[in-house]
Amino acid sequence: MMKINAEQHIEPKKASLRVALVLVSILAVTATLVAAVLYTTIVKRTSQEGRSFAKYSVDVQNDVSNNDIGSDKIYSPGADCGDILKTVGPLSGVYKIQPEGASAPFSVYCEMTDSGAWTVIQRRQDGSVSFIRNWADYKEGFGNINGEYWIGNDNIHYLTKQAPYKLRIDLGKGDGLTAYAEYNTFVIEDEYNNYTLHLGENSGTAGDSLIDTYTTNNGMPFSTFDNDNDQYIYNCASNYYAGWWFNHCTDGNLNGFYYTTKQENYHGTLNWFTWNLYEPLKSVTMKLQQVN
Ligand SMILES: *[C@@H]1O[C@H](CO)[C@@H](O)[C@H](O)[C@H]1NC(C)=O
Repeated sequence: MMKINAEQHIEPKKASLRVALVLVSILAVTATLVAAVLYTTIVKRTSQEGRSFAKYSVDVQNDVSNNDIGSDKIYSPGADCGDILKTVGPLSGVYKIQPEGASAPFSVYCEMTDSGAWTVIQRRQDGSVSFIRNWADYKEGFGNINGEYWIGNDNIHYLTKQAPYKLRIDLGKGDGLTAYAEYNTFVIEDEYNNYTLHLGENSGTAGDSLIDTYTTNNGMPFSTFDNDNDQYIYNCASNYYAGWWFNHCTDGNLNGFYYTTKQENYHGTLNWFTWNLYEPLKSVTMKLQQVN
């Protein structure tokens, strides 16, 4: 009896020891997991803060002297014009931006409107800048940031890669009429993939001349006269006087030739078929805004 009693006395002790051991192990594992999660979160947040801080602290002096805003305010660059709106306010003008991936800040026109800040990637208004350019020019960008320009395919790629963006196209005719088209997403791939275009749904007053048309531009790589990636037996970029996401050419030739009078041969005219057929347009801007 004594022996049994002793054993009975020892058994619960062993059992509770085992339970304690298991509890301690569980606690240890939980503590490790919690520590790991906390560490990851903190490190991630800190490095993100570091990144955005770096984004805003790029050479403010240089930024001011290179701008044409004509103000004594200090302008810090952001990742797009939406950032500029937050840091500077609703004043349209030329600012420096540096999207994620871009090696340096670059100048761009920011249009601040009732519908938010727009980063202007292309503008035509007077024909002062030739858009008959080679691959390298379209890659880097060209023109005059206060006038007509193309911001550059690399820059458009960096912009549209860092967040979801929509595209707005504002069109103007010689008679003063205006219309617009929007695509609710807009992405262009990198140079290796020839800046292939991806457009979302269309809306607006000018119709859709890029997706649901005779010859869709959606999913097409970019072409220039010296880098023909279109689906046509001839060279669309040469025939249409533009760099663009040509397929069997295009119904919306926004980088086309800036004619001031109606042409017999429509090829190459700066046009948007669903609004103005092949009549030359007077003004175009292409601009981007983050989709929230
Ligand atoms: C990009 O275009 C070049 C020149 O036409 C072609 O050789 C290359 O295969 C294209 N790249 C891709 C990823 O399709």
